[in-house]
Amino acid sequence: MKTIGVLTSGGDAPGMNAAIRAVVRTGCENGVRVLGIRRGFAGLMEGDMLEMNIRSVSDIIHRGGTMLYSARSKTFCTEEGMEQAIKVCRENEMEGIVVIGGDGSFRGARDLSVRGINCVGIPGTIDNDIACCDYTIGYDTCLNTIQEMVDRIRDTSESHDRCTVVEVMGRRAGYLALNSGIAVGATAILIPEIDFDVEIDVIERMKRTQATGKRHFIIVVAEGVKDKLKEKGIDGVDGLSKRIESELGVESRSCVLGHVQRGGSPTVKDRVVASRMGSYAAHLLLDGIGNRVVGMQKDEIVDYDIVEALEMKKHIDLNLYKIAMEISI
Ligand code: F6P
Repeated sequence: MKTIGVLTSGGDAPGMNAAIRAVVRTGCENGVRVLGIRRGFAGLMEGDMLEMNIRSVSDIIHRGGTMLYSARSKTFCTEEGMEQAIKVCRENEMEGIVVIGGDGSFRGARDLSVRGINCVGIPGTIDNDIACCDYTIGYDTCLNTIQEMVDRIRDTSESHDRCTVVEVMGRRAGYLALNSGIAVGATAILIPEIDFDVEIDVIERMKRTQATGKRHFIIVVAEGVKDKLKEKGIDGVDGLSKRIESELGVESRSCVLGHVQRGGSPTVKDRVVASRMGSYAAHLLLDGIGNRVVGMQKDEIVDYDIVEALEMKKHIDLNLYKIAMEISI
């Protein structure tokens, strides 16, 4: 291949810049022209791109967000959108693209691949919800951010003998909630993958804990359980905190952490994993291999056919949940 592109798509994640850097430098060092495509597939359709060199990616490894910007494009999913994207690729002699993003971005990469543009996906999302990988870029930084934020909440919660119900991101998955919940010592953790009964899994747990002398509480709730809470007549974390206050008489507050979770300087883990994945993806394209997703299994970087990767299922670690319930008491 003589020219490859790189883009970031979907929700940004800390570490995406490190992945871009690795792709660009691997390409340049191997004599390939690298085009940085701005604003994901939307930018691809518009031809919004710049030629990159080794120095274009200086001073970005430590920055959150993505220097190429990101977007979610509905037009790209239409036949016209796809044709326009292919036209831009041909005009720019771009034979392959590294797509950094989540499942939605990989579907775009698959559709381009079947039309002759070799694409390689790199999993970049704070949610860690991509089936073919143990780990997605941004997850560790996000967990550390949640931990830091909730530790702060805990200071004030403890000072006032309060309960704080914290909503964390994760889309439809509970990886962020379960792991951060353990890290902050949450008394209860609600995640979409495990059915729960508010009375038993929150109120009764808190009562048992109270009986042992505990007077302040952190409850971690995944954003993905909002609908289940609604079915139970509870309106989000605010509704849950009101329920706790009325049933237990414990003064309660709620907090939706929101987008603070997606920003910030990437951790060592995210920088290193992103660099490894970026290098691996660029080398696949250099070898003329496309229609692949790069993943991580047991600390090894591996790759899968995109279609197969999209069909895989990922399961939450039930044992981890059991441990959390046994020790956060
Ligand atoms: O997929 C990453 C993520 O941050 C999810 O955790 C969250 O549900 C979603 O993106 C938020 O998207 P937006 O930035 O469009 O509000």
